[in-house]
Amino acid sequence: MDAIVSGGAEATVVRLALLIALIAVVEAGLGVLGRRLSAALGEELILDLRTAVFDHVQRMPVAFFTRTRTGALVSRLNNDVIGAQRAFSNTLSTVVGNLVTLVLTLAVMLTLSWQITLLALALLPVFVIPARRMGRRMAGMQREAAALNAAMGTRMTERFSAPGATLVKLFGSPEEESEQFAVRARRVRDIGVRTATAQTVFITALTLVSALALALVYGVGGRLALGGTLEPGAVVALALLLTRLYAPLTSLAGARVEVMSALVSFERVFEILDLEPLIQDTPDARELPPGPVSVEFDDVRFGYPSADKVSLASLEEVATLDTRGGDVVLHGISFRAEPGQTVALVGSSGAGKSTIAGLLPRLYDVDSGAVRVGGADVRELTAASLRATVGMVTQDGHLFHDTVRANLLLARPEATGPELWDALRRARLDTLVRALPDGLDTVVGSGATGSRAVSASA
Ligand SMILES: Nc1ncnc2c1ncn2[C@@H]1O[C@H](COP(=O)(O)OP(=O)(O)O)[C@@H](O)[C@H]1O
Ligand SMILES: [Mg+2]
Repeated sequence: MDAIVSGGAEATVVRLALLIALIAVVEAGLGVLGRRLSAALGEELILDLRTAVFDHVQRMPVAFFTRTRTGALVSRLNNDVIGAQRAFSNTLSTVVGNLVTLVLTLAVMLTLSWQITLLALALLPVFVIPARRMGRRMAGMQREAAALNAAMGTRMTERFSAPGATLVKLFGSPEEESEQFAVRARRVRDIGVRTATAQTVFITALTLVSALALALVYGVGGRLALGGTLEPGAVVALALLLTRLYAPLTSLAGARVEVMSALVSFERVFEILDLEPLIQDTPDARELPPGPVSVEFDDVRFGYPSADKVSLASLEEVATLDTRGGDVVLHGISFRAEPGQTVALVGSSGAGKSTIAGLLPRLYDVDSGAVRVGGADVRELTAASLRATVGMVTQDGHLFHDTVRANLLLARPEATGPELWDALRRARLDTLVRALPDGLDTVVGSGATGSRAVSASA
């Protein structure tokens, strides 16, 4: 401006223009690079978190899965992990970039006019204080939104599972179901509108402050220029710089809010990772040698673990965990089954037959007494070797949505074709599987055609 007004050399003007162009190009390049780096970092973080959560959840005892609502769990793996990522890849690059812009702009402004710079900085608390309060509010809303999303997701996974859908078809009413779902979906909508409104008010208020500050700069700077203490060019430069000062400030205030909501996601993910699995291999776990083994129950007492031991209140969509202590189910059971012997447990429903069976592959651990396989306490054996020896057929046969072959290979990935057919023959399933359209490669599992027949026979 000064070069133009004072009629300076044309070369100076062109040089300055070229410099502006160069800065713009460098800035664009750095912007892309920064975004790329932060995206890579964010995605890497998500990959780590996701695989860690999957791995950890897998190691949870059966009790965890019977207590936990699948939908809520999947929502943690999806929504919350993504929430954490968003904060990282969106915010990280902006924070560094904005801090640099902020410092450089302030330095240049100070050289032009310290009075105006101080005036501009006087408005700083206007950015910092609401950002803190807003951050807390957004975190609260984020927590609420996550819970509501999980409630909605849970409803879907429950109702759309084959047993759930069958139950609704037989006894439920589709209108009532739709209404129940709509209630949850509406809550998600409401919190979405509230969050967006709060966010907009916040950002708009900050933008308004910058606009008002601009008026201040032109007013004060203009008077200083009229008085001859400031060049007119400096006034224009200061006004331009002011937008470069407040833009990063607004951005940083927004980042603070975003980070605080993202922390909610981190909190929800780590809540799962911090849940210690009840049943783990001891450090000095031994291998159970393959071959026939005896089974012995020695004065076994057992009660199902209470909810607070195995799950999280926030995963069950209830305010507080049901803390009732597990009633004792097995009161001092002792028996011994020798290799090759066939033993049947007979009793009324709820007597504890399935419970006894579940203690053998260590789905649960006994409260006192011991379960021994081949003379060794199951708690001293590695889970892998115990599972290689103990087979258990559950009442509600479940097949994964995959081929018959893949479902069979789950137990022994290295089994050969003839071995698979031998297993099928012994389960009296060979004729049935041979009759399936693609034999071993027929896809079974929830919803697939072959599954009814196969799981019924299984
Ligand atoms: N996952 C569970 N959590 C809490 N209690 C359970 C669970 N499974 C079974 N029970 C209780 O344990 C007792 C024995 O059940 P179970 O072993 O399934 O009996 P059975 O197989 O002989 O019919 C019953 O009182 C039942 O209510
Ligand atoms: Mg049973």
